[in-house]
Amino acid sequence: LAKAEVELASIPEGKNVTIKWRGKPVFIRHRTQDEIAEANTVNVQELRDPQQDAERVKKPEWLVMLGVCTHLGCVPIGEAGDYGGWYCPCHGSHYDISGRIRKGPAPLNLEIPAFLGCYPYALTQR
Ligand code: FES
Repeated sequence: LAKAEVELASIPEGKNVTIKWRGKPVFIRHRTQDEIAEANTVNVQELRDPQQDAERVKKPEWLVMLGVCTHLGCVPIGEAGDYGGWYCPCHGSHYDISGRIRKGPAPLNLEIPAFLGCYPYALTQR
């Protein structure tokens, strides 16, 4: 398994960082309390790919996911789109602050990478 080490302490609250993991972009967002609250107010029954925010994070303040649009694989733009999360400019998919698909052609939420199984230990906090 490839190991990713990121100094989480260097990522300020409300900021995104993109790293490369196995040749793919991985988005890390240090979410604010407001963003966490917003992610948890969504009625998941209304989502195309129903997932609670808690199923997508180990620690609510750290959202870590593959930066690959689930439509045709473009790299979405952070802090963009209609739902305060990510926007894929290729065909207009909007993802929310949990990386869940909310509008546009993408079929699934942004993927949570497998290394999250051992998170936060793989993402070392110094
Ligand atoms: Fe992202 Fe098509 S690749 S919307």
